[in-house]
Amino acid sequence: MSKAAPRVLLTGATGFVGSHLFSALEREGFEVVGGTRDPERARTSAPGRTFRHVDLDDPKSLEAALSEVDRAVYLVHSMGGGRRYAEAEQKNAQAFRAAAERCGLERIVYLGGMRPNGAISRHLKSRLATGVTLRSGSVPTVELQATMVVGGGSESFRIVRDLAARLPLMLLPRWLESRSQPVAIADVVAAIVHALTMPLEGSTVLAVPGPESLSGRDMILRTARTLSHEPKVLGVPLVTPRLSSYWIRWVTRANPQVATELVEGLRSNIVADGPEIWDSMPDYPRTPFDDAVAVALREEARELPMRSRVLERLLNVFSRHPSAHPS
Ligand SMILES: NC(=O)c1ccc[n+]([C@@H]2O[C@H](COP(=O)([O-])OP(=O)(O)OC[C@H]3O[C@@H](n4cnc5c(N)ncnc54)[C@H](OP(=O)(O)O)[C@@H]3O)[C@@H](O)[C@H]2O)c1
Repeated sequence: MSKAAPRVLLTGATGFVGSHLFSALEREGFEVVGGTRDPERARTSAPGRTFRHVDLDDPKSLEAALSEVDRAVYLVHSMGGGRRYAEAEQKNAQAFRAAAERCGLERIVYLGGMRPNGAISRHLKSRLATGVTLRSGSVPTVELQATMVVGGGSESFRIVRDLAARLPLMLLPRWLESRSQPVAIADVVAAIVHALTMPLEGSTVLAVPGPESLSGRDMILRTARTLSHEPKVLGVPLVTPRLSSYWIRWVTRANPQVATELVEGLRSNIVADGPEIWDSMPDYPRTPFDDAVAVALREEARELPMRSRVLERLLNVFSRHPSAHPS
């Protein structure tokens, strides 16, 4: 960066994307303030980083934090926060837009979801509505749109990982044929850093697709292969996403409400068909899916409780390569 590094408020700093992004922004020389509803807890788990109290339900905390920075990254969602989460997300986006305008922010970067090529789930509808609201203000806003982000700590990848690691017999319903473009967390971080500094006139929407278009079935089976695990596969064409979400909730560690919402989002293909952030980063080498999975599995293995390790070894005792825990 040529001039003095901008000060950035990173909302969602304790979350999956936020915690990966925090260190990258620091490496790039940004002055980073992490926003969280519980700064004490955040400081305990990431000593040395700056956090301050930011609750999007409390506009005063928002305005106080935004008045001290030049730019902001918006990584907040309310999925898992009850049935009325879409309303909450809309209210939060409106409050953020208004506070950003009052504080004269230079730029907002928001990471949201990508529009499916067919039916749209409640979760994706709400993520897209958040983008529309943020972009409709006077602060130039880059809305980045991604499908599943692959990395340790990603709720959506955790579902894929647990299904791949825990099922010796895999039931593959037809909706798992829908294709999307999973992207490595390292590539998402690079995209957000670029979006914070690239030349910008007004607001824009840019896709952040991974390099391969894969079905849910491909993702699970390739993740299983990376775990040296060979599950038997059985097609069950008539099982709907809604029905599947019940056993997915039972098999995986994912938050039940989040799992249901994410699985509902897999009814249609989700493939980028507009401008991409990569158009302005032509030399950036995107991470192949299998490499992203290998990194994510190592990170996930570190977090896995002992009882889950034992359970997975027992479940996979009959598969060809029972080691589901790369070191
Ligand atoms: N993960 C993926 O695969 C994926 C894919 C595509 C797009 N995205 C997008 O990426 C963004 C970040 O996702 P993520 O996976 O990193 O989520 P995450 O791990 O669940 O983190 C969400 C963060 O939101 C914060 N938060 C929630 N409610 C808040 C409120 N009222 N005020 C202030 N902060 C609040 C939480 O911080 P505290 O609890 O510390 O306050 C938490 O750190 C989201 O916009 C999501 O749509 C993610």
